[in-house]
Amino acid sequence: MAKDLGMFFGEMLRHPGEVVALAPSSGAVARRMTAGLDRVTGPVVEIGPGTGSFTRAILARGVAPERLTLLETNTRFCEALRDRFPGVRVLNRPAQEISAIGLRDIGAVISGVPVLARPRIQREVVGRAFEVMAREGWFAQITYSPNAPISSEMRCELGLRVERRGTVWANLPPARIFVFHSIQH
Ligand SMILES: C[S@@+](CC[C@H](N)C(=O)[O-])C[C@H]1O[C@@H](n2cnc3c(N)ncnc32)[C@H](O)[C@@H]1O
Repeated sequence: MAKDLGMFFGEMLRHPGEVVALAPSSGAVARRMTAGLDRVTGPVVEIGPGTGSFTRAILARGVAPERLTLLETNTRFCEALRDRFPGVRVLNRPAQEISAIGLRDIGAVISGVPVLARPRIQREVVGRAFEVMAREGWFAQITYSPNAPISSEMRCELGLRVERRGTVWANLPPARIFVFHSIQH
C-alpha cells in the first residue's frame, strides 16, 4: 500500500535506529512469519508491528483479534494500527515490557524488532518473552542477515534452540526467518 510505504519511510527518517528497514515487509514474508499460527492456542503477541504487515497475516491465520496484543514504541504507528485493526489490543510500550502486560502462556511471539548483534536487547526482549511463553510456544524473528539473529552462546544462556524457516527473496531487502523454541519442550 502506497500510504503504508509513505508513513513507514517518514518514520524511518525520524527514528532510523528503531524502524531500521526501508519499507514494510512483503506479504510473502508475513505468510512465512505466521506459518503454524493456525495450530496455536492462547494469546499471541506481535512486537514491532510497524504499519501492520504481519498483523494482517496473523489475523488471516484465524487468530481472533481479542487474542492478539501488539507492542509498538512508535506513537504514529500505534494510532494507525488502532484504526486498522479494531478489537486488537495495541500497546504503545516497548517489547522489553512483554512480561509486565498481564499475559501468561503466550502461544507465539511474532517479532519485527531489530535484535541482531545487540545482546542486551536479546536478553531483554527474547529472554523476557520466554518467561511468559507456554511450554510449546515459539518466537519468530525476521532478519536481513544470513546468520541467526541470536548467537549460539546467547541461545545457550537463554535455553533456546533455533529452527530456520529460510529466505524470502520477494522482499526489500530479502529476509530470513528464524524461529526459537525452549529446549525444555
Ligand atoms: C523493521 S520495522 C518492522 C515493521 C513491521 N513488522 C514490518 O515487518 O513491516 C521495526 C519496528 O519495530 C519497532 N520497534 C523498534 N524497537 C522496538 C521495541 N523495543 N519495542 C517495540 N517496538 C519496537 C519500530 O518502531 C518499527 O515499527
